[in-house]
Amino acid sequence: MFPIVAAFSVPIIILGVCHVSQRTRIHTTVGAVHALLEPRNTGDAADIASRIFPHGHLGLTPSSDVLNPSSHDTFVEEVGALTASFSSHKCTEGWKELVGRADGCTERFLPRQDVDFIAFIQSVTLCTILAGFYNIDPEFLSPLDIAFVTNGLNCHSDRASPFNVTELSAMMERIYRWVGGERAPGALEIIFPAYESMWRLAAVALDYVNRDQHMRNAFLDFSENPTERQFRAFKIKDTKPSVEAIIKEVLRLHPPMRHIMRKRKHPWWKQIFYPSQEVADIASAHRSPAYGAQPETFDAMRFHPSQPMTPSLLAFGHGGLECIAKKWAPMATALIVAKVIDKVDDVRFILAGNAFETSVGHNIRTGWDGWVIRKKEKMNHTFPPPQVTRGHINPNVKCQ
Ligand code: HEM
Repeated sequence: MFPIVAAFSVPIIILGVCHVSQRTRIHTTVGAVHALLEPRNTGDAADIASRIFPHGHLGLTPSSDVLNPSSHDTFVEEVGALTASFSSHKCTEGWKELVGRADGCTERFLPRQDVDFIAFIQSVTLCTILAGFYNIDPEFLSPLDIAFVTNGLNCHSDRASPFNVTELSAMMERIYRWVGGERAPGALEIIFPAYESMWRLAAVALDYVNRDQHMRNAFLDFSENPTERQFRAFKIKDTKPSVEAIIKEVLRLHPPMRHIMRKRKHPWWKQIFYPSQEVADIASAHRSPAYGAQPETFDAMRFHPSQPMTPSLLAFGHGGLECIAKKWAPMATALIVAKVIDKVDDVRFILAGNAFETSVGHNIRTGWDGWVIRKKEKMNHTFPPPQVTRGHINPNVKCQ
């Protein structure tokens, strides 16, 4: 009896162990990430479905268009149309308008005393997205409402599950007020992926740029003259990086989405041998020697045309489902950074905080404790510094 039981159970145990240990396969090289995210070759529906589980949070409700194979492409086209006014012949006017709005948003959220840096940058980012995509005057956006929505979106980002009905309707009430009834239904789903990645990129870029006078100057030039040409211009006879190169280097070292995942469905007999989930580890691939010497070091000059060609960045994904805003987002985020650098000029306001943790595993969302934007006059008096407020964050909003 025993040999028969053993003969059956040993292979089952071995297969079970294989099954558990192979559930997730992580890809850490540029080639392997490309292969995983290659252009759709199994049909749209299969590809979109493959990310429903891991990137479920891209959709705000289970029936979200971005996750629904039948409405996905129309949704993505709509998002593309919003950034279209910044391309081709309309480009210069579009960017000039956006810089004016980013300026208004930065002014709107500068503190009377001190403000938590992350609350500030999140508010300015959301305000700029709303003003840029929906033509809203920043003055019309109440800081409390903006804080309510940023809190809601942050919570959603953290727990990666759909909003509940009460939360969603409270957010939608504000969106209706801001963008109007016709455009409101799909607006939050467009705003969310933009907000989630752009505030993180802006925050880390600000930390790097603020520490280096050449980089500050490049952003100040760009703030004054927000053209694509200025964005790409290397400085001081090609010895100092362009704004574009700096943004690329921040995206390389700190991609806002560190992992892109795909769920795989296999017939049951293959499930034993194949992983059910595959992960493109963007952060590790970006720190490989494929991107040049000393990949752990911040060196925006690695993107100078004289340097050996590096592979394209993977921060916006790759293949058929890559980010629709990969051309627009770097320059739009650079504008936010430029405006903040312009206003937080060490004369009226200063940015104070400890050095940001730059290791590969570091989560950009956290690690900003003690970072503040402070009104300079407050530094001169002899009284103890005022208590740092959490900006306009509404303390009643808690993640559930
Ligand atoms: C720094 C800024 C941004 C980064 C790093 C970023 C990154 C990404 C990544 C990695 C993906 C692909 C996810 C996957 O393959 O599953 C993605 C998809 C997407 N992003 Fe972005 N994104 C940024 C800004 C934006 C902005 C500004 C918008 C809106 C205008 C946006 C809208 C989208 C949409 C709609 C998708 C889904 C595309 C599809 O399903 O075909 N993103 N983004």
